[in-house]
Amino acid sequence: MCGIVGYIGDKNAVDVVLDGLRRLEYRGYDSAGVSVLSNGTLDSLRSVGKLAALEDKLKSNPISGSSGIGHTRWATHGVPSEANAHPHHDHPHAIAVVHNGIIENYLEIGAKLREKGVEFRSETDTETLAHLIRHYFEGNLFAAVKRALQDIRGAYAIGVVCSDDPEVLVAARSGSPLVVGLGEGESFIASDAAAILNYTRKVLYLEDGHVCEVRRDGYTVQDLEGAQQQLEIQTVDWDQSQAEKGGYPHFMLKEIHEQPDVIRNTIGGRISEDRSQVVWEDGLLDDDLLESCDRIVIIACGTAWHAGLVGKRLIESLAKVPVEIEIASEFRYKELLIQPNTIVIPITQSGETADTLQALRVAKEHGATILSLVNAIGSSIARESDAVIYLRAGLEIGVASTKAYTAMIAALVLLAVDLGHRRDTLTSHKATALLTELQAIPAKIQESLDDQGTVLQCAADARYRDAASALFLGRGYNLPTAMEGALKLKEISYIHAEAYGAGEMKHGAIALVTDKLPVVFIAPRSATHEKVISNIQEVRARNGIILAIATQGDTGIAQHCDDVIYIPNCPEALSPILAVIPLQLLAYYISVNRGCDVDQPRNLAKSVTVE
Ligand code: F6R
Repeated sequence: MCGIVGYIGDKNAVDVVLDGLRRLEYRGYDSAGVSVLSNGTLDSLRSVGKLAALEDKLKSNPISGSSGIGHTRWATHGVPSEANAHPHHDHPHAIAVVHNGIIENYLEIGAKLREKGVEFRSETDTETLAHLIRHYFEGNLFAAVKRALQDIRGAYAIGVVCSDDPEVLVAARSGSPLVVGLGEGESFIASDAAAILNYTRKVLYLEDGHVCEVRRDGYTVQDLEGAQQQLEIQTVDWDQSQAEKGGYPHFMLKEIHEQPDVIRNTIGGRISEDRSQVVWEDGLLDDDLLESCDRIVIIACGTAWHAGLVGKRLIESLAKVPVEIEIASEFRYKELLIQPNTIVIPITQSGETADTLQALRVAKEHGATILSLVNAIGSSIARESDAVIYLRAGLEIGVASTKAYTAMIAALVLLAVDLGHRRDTLTSHKATALLTELQAIPAKIQESLDDQGTVLQCAADARYRDAASALFLGRGYNLPTAMEGALKLKEISYIHAEAYGAGEMKHGAIALVTDKLPVVFIAPRSATHEKVISNIQEVRARNGIILAIATQGDTGIAQHCDDVIYIPNCPEALSPILAVIPLQLLAYYISVNRGCDVDQPRNLAKSVTVE
């Protein structure tokens, strides 16, 4: 996790770095810090808590300079404290380092440095790197960083400045994202291009093992041994407004409302004119493999894993290929039974989730073909995959993922239909019917967004808003929806929530039901609808507070429930997209009504780049 930004040029580096850090706060907000070079001296300021605390501190202790680096932290080694905040320094206080990642052998290197008399001031792995760079420094920062990194094991994206070599900023990456931005007479580094879009759109995506000497008028990229590396300069074409709230009070609400457009983008141009087939932009994967693969393994974390659960049902039912779905952090530590005909599908919004990235690498080592579903273009997972289906959901900033989730399901529908078509398990009549319904989904999401009355009422109702705990129940395609609804509620409102298969509840969780427990049933029309109604009655008989998500026209369900939120009718296979919308809104408004920090919930970060 953590966000890093760096600048060298004629502007005040503090302003540019803070502006960038504001756009990276989603990556962590335990502490923040900045270091700048000015007339041969290195000035630093660090603060615990969000960036606003650092900004306040800078008002009373202003610093400025024409090059500098900054950091917003999500703690891994050492508590969030000023001493552990980045940048970290060497002893003469001439070198400053910001780091995103984990240095695995920091204790070993630290012990050797201590033997040479180096004193440490923090509990972090990063401080070791500052002292190690000093150890190798002989007047050239680029050379010292390359040499120091040869001793390091682990993941890093770093930015380094040094008052003894002030005309450069050195950046390096291995396993954590880093871009270099190129302006007119000024250059930038950042964890994410969003941080520097105000200044330039020309970027280089550094690859693992690259070290870059960044100067105001250019750059040099080498590997750790000093071999020159050629990288293509890319142009980022995101709209800057995508990085702003667009008039909504929170990014999460903005992103919930973007979902009709997002689904249009995800499926746009990928459905043939007669709607009978899926057409990917450019030859997705080896056709033979798609036709003959005998097993699919989906790997993902959190919300993306919930999308994967929907994907498993879609692919198994439309394409009749067995699909396993694994939590990425578990997958990489188990016995892998990967055959040449296995396709592994990582699903990820950020494309940088360390657990998913490592699982991908292990799967590759075992010979799997990797077809990933990714939102962030140019991210590590996208780059390391054999083929990528981009989600086209745009920048997602709210820590609680919303639009990426529905985009993932829409992309999985396309993939399942394509596989079914290629493998002759889906008639073109059925494919056309489903793809036509998929094209109607954006308008149906809009209908739900336009009629939020019952959601708002429930979110303001003390029985839901002040509950200590809640159960989310669903079956079939909508068991993952129940899981996603529970995750959204707990992560932004801190209400404990659990999801269960509605039919599984009677085997244990029903013991929790009292007249204080809200039970949310995901109950759109489905093959198991009658069974779900029986499950609702089981909760009713025990006085649970029942909120159902049901299909418009299902008036009968209301007699069994305290509240019903209706969603438009659609085929069961697509219902997870529509059913999750009111759950996202419910979690959002309950969080707001409880006074929680919706976009930056405690202990979380948007992109989890540690294992
Ligand atoms: C929850 C959430 C997380 C992410 C998970 C994977 O709202 O956002 O559970 O889904 O950390 O992230 P990505 O999709 O970036 O791999």
